[in-house]
Amino acid sequence: MTHSLRISDLTVTDRPAGAGTVPPGTAAPGSAPSGAAACSDAASAWPGGVGPGDGGAASVNDVSVIRVRGGARLCGTVHVVGAKNSALKLMAAALLAPGRTVITNVPRITDIAIMGEVLRRLGCAVRFEIDPAVDGPAAEHSRTVTIDVPEQPGTEADYDLVRRLRASICVLGPLLARLGYVRVAHPGGDAIGSRGLDMHVAGLNRLGAEISGEHGFVIASAPAGLRGADIVLEFPSVGATENLVMAAVLARGVTTIDNAAREPEIVDICTMLTEMGARIIGAGTSTLTIEGVRELRPVRHATVGDRIVAGTWAFAAAMTRGDVTVTGASPAFLEIALDKVVSAGGLVETRPDAFRVRMDRRPTAVDVVTLPYPGFATDLLPMAIGLASVSEGASLVTENIFDGRFMFANEMARLGADIKTDGHHAVVRGRDRLSGAPVRATDIRAGAGLVIAGLCADGVTEVSHVHHIDRGYPDFVADLRALGVEVERGRVPEEPDPTL
Ligand code: EPU
Repeated sequence: MTHSLRISDLTVTDRPAGAGTVPPGTAAPGSAPSGAAACSDAASAWPGGVGPGDGGAASVNDVSVIRVRGGARLCGTVHVVGAKNSALKLMAAALLAPGRTVITNVPRITDIAIMGEVLRRLGCAVRFEIDPAVDGPAAEHSRTVTIDVPEQPGTEADYDLVRRLRASICVLGPLLARLGYVRVAHPGGDAIGSRGLDMHVAGLNRLGAEISGEHGFVIASAPAGLRGADIVLEFPSVGATENLVMAAVLARGVTTIDNAAREPEIVDICTMLTEMGARIIGAGTSTLTIEGVRELRPVRHATVGDRIVAGTWAFAAAMTRGDVTVTGASPAFLEIALDKVVSAGGLVETRPDAFRVRMDRRPTAVDVVTLPYPGFATDLLPMAIGLASVSEGASLVTENIFDGRFMFANEMARLGADIKTDGHHAVVRGRDRLSGAPVRATDIRAGAGLVIAGLCADGVTEVSHVHHIDRGYPDFVADLRALGVEVERGRVPEEPDPTL
């Protein structure tokens, strides 16, 4: 049976057809006019409103681009909706209870649409809607997702979706816990690194599961059910912690997970699981104690604000010597990142669910080391490198989480950044100004980092492969424009496909 990915399910149905997120008159030459029909390709159909079928020749692949003119100071207020890395797992956690789970403040991004499809293929009914209680940009950028989970969900997640959304692996724990059997395609590595699964597997083994690999699938079974165990993670892996918690909540007896990840998104998932009836102690600390229960009930839960998107705006404000207020995410989850902005010369004011970053002069170079939470987030590394590239002095930037995260340094070099990498270190010597050029987004965060670096460059910077940005930022272009940037989204023809 073949399935088509219905990204359009995330598109609002109660606004005029074709009312895309790019305002009229701003589409690039050759792109679809505002009001053009939505297209079916997930990578380019949404949210930009431009896509294949409106100008590209049959022998080329279409590539969405964002063009920014450098020189703007970012000024104004930007609202951040729920965290991608929480919402994806909250959706997976819904599988633990038959019935209707409702998750609010879910970001309107491609990854969420793909997770919706993963759940549909597992037999769930999934619906995305505008939350009537929300207005302004939040209404445009977030959705409420309603997930109706059957008594007997399916047990298989295919490669065609898992390769597009590595986080699909997080259905492993809940399905194994509920059904005693699951087959999930092995996600493989990606542009930021090799990304192993060994800690997921070792932990599930400890809970009594048998795990094998076959034909590109991870197959897990526990015919007699899972049983509580003591697990020590070699590294506080976010994904492994989540999978193991979601498995342990329905295991017989007590599980402890030592060296657990402490990210706010883990706390959010533990909060929802607890609302569902799970017994979890220690969320947000490095030891989680989980007493298994027989069953869980579906709930309504609001996703925690996206600290990485919020951090992106903090660095963008600092780099452009701007003045930006960010609402919707707690500054408490960005303590070290905001400290770096202050060390670079920025002024930061905080409120419980908002903060303001001002920078009145050229930033001063600061060193950055990425670490698991509460350390400096690896997902903000491209922004830290961007800041270093325009700061006065030299910065040493150390990446400790992903082995491929510096891949995007080559693209930054095209903008004139002076970056020398050696293993997991980079020395960045700041320049007063970068130089606009065509560059390519290699992953979500690198893409956002390159667009922001373009704001500090002379002339126009064109970032291609912006489908990466769409995976994690609800409408980056609209937010940039609202903050005073001259920016447009369009498309260019890519290299001819040699196989055609
Ligand atoms: N690792 C292993 N074996 C495992 C698990 C992880 O070797 O069994 C390694 C990974 O290869 C990596 C490191 O441990 O080098 C950290 O991996 P972790 O499991 O913590 O990360 P993840 O769950 O795969 C999530 C986020 C990432 C974010 C990292 C770190 C989601 C969907 N993804 O990935 O987010 O960078 O945690 O905070 O939650 C992004 O949003 O752009 C993104 C990449």
